[in-house]
Amino acid sequence: MEKIDWANLTFGYMRTDYNVRCYYRDGKWGALELHSEENINIHMAATCLHYGQEAFEGLKAFRGKDGRVRVFRPEANAERLQNTCEGILMAQFPTDMFCEAVKMVIKANERFIPPYGSGASLYLRPLLIGTGPQVGVRPATEYLFVIFVSPVGPYFKGGFSTNKYAVVRDFDRAAPLGTGRFKVGGNYASSLRANKWAHDQGYACEFYLDAKEKKYIDECGAANFFGIKDNTYITPLSTSILPSITNMSLMQLAEDMGMKVERRHVPVEELSTFEEAGACGTAAVISPIAQIDDLDENKSYVISKDGKPGEVCLKLYNKLRGIQNGEEPDTHGWIMFVD
Ligand code: PLP
Ligand code: COI
Repeated sequence: MEKIDWANLTFGYMRTDYNVRCYYRDGKWGALELHSEENINIHMAATCLHYGQEAFEGLKAFRGKDGRVRVFRPEANAERLQNTCEGILMAQFPTDMFCEAVKMVIKANERFIPPYGSGASLYLRPLLIGTGPQVGVRPATEYLFVIFVSPVGPYFKGGFSTNKYAVVRDFDRAAPLGTGRFKVGGNYASSLRANKWAHDQGYACEFYLDAKEKKYIDECGAANFFGIKDNTYITPLSTSILPSITNMSLMQLAEDMGMKVERRHVPVEELSTFEEAGACGTAAVISPIAQIDDLDENKSYVISKDGKPGEVCLKLYNKLRGIQNGEEPDTHGWIMFVD
């Protein structure tokens, strides 16, 4: 058995022992099945291949200080997947089956759960696709739910360190009343060029404004945005951003710490007033923002003067990671134990 270098993992795919699958046929979901095969065999006219009937999720499991395995808010991911399915007319996968599949896939791949203190975690990737054939533009009658895992390290190089982002004005990730609030593959297809453009310019990630007016902040690539000023946690309200479970959790933690929380339109110029800012998500955790450049407008918003993460970002990060690792009490009932 190959030894895994836990401390140097990146955010990527690693083959593990098992995945869990469930088929929807004749109007109902079947039993959860354990598979070791990485490939899936689907009809060439499956709606996921032609009409984008594809939804995915992302959540993490952690080996705690006490040796127990904790999953962070799986019910919230199950509910968001159900919303996505409703958004693109796919069969919804029940929350109890989702949590059962999460436990099953983790237990079957136990040897891939990174040890406590390594900084790595086990990323879980649920996927739900239309597998039934259609040639006309219509929803499928058959679906497949799959969940696989991969041990991962930090999403951005350097882990908890600051990054620079570039505002994109030439591409949109999603339309104002489109699928931006759902976790569908199409949104990520539309983000690929913007993401490449930002990387080519030397930035960690692309930074989206609202697609209609290009006035307000939407989100940072595959992560939500938050800004901190005057003891207030401020995060954008928009119809085209993904409702991030990490962001929801941070809003609660900020409130617990005695901060005010505002969810509202955030004009891009307001960036010049923030004492701290960050990108947040399952993969990104909290990624403090050093600087955001709006190249087309010849503007540069420097948020961290010394290039270091701010105090509030650090406090939020430690609290969140502490709950996930079992070092901090889980006062909101966010943890599901696997054992
Ligand atoms: N925004 C987008 C576009 C994402 O892909 C993600 C990742 O899931 C997030 C935000 C963060 O959401 P969460 O905190 O639920 O992982
Ligand atoms: C996540 O944070 O789980 C994501 O889905 C981000 C990404 C790799 C698409």
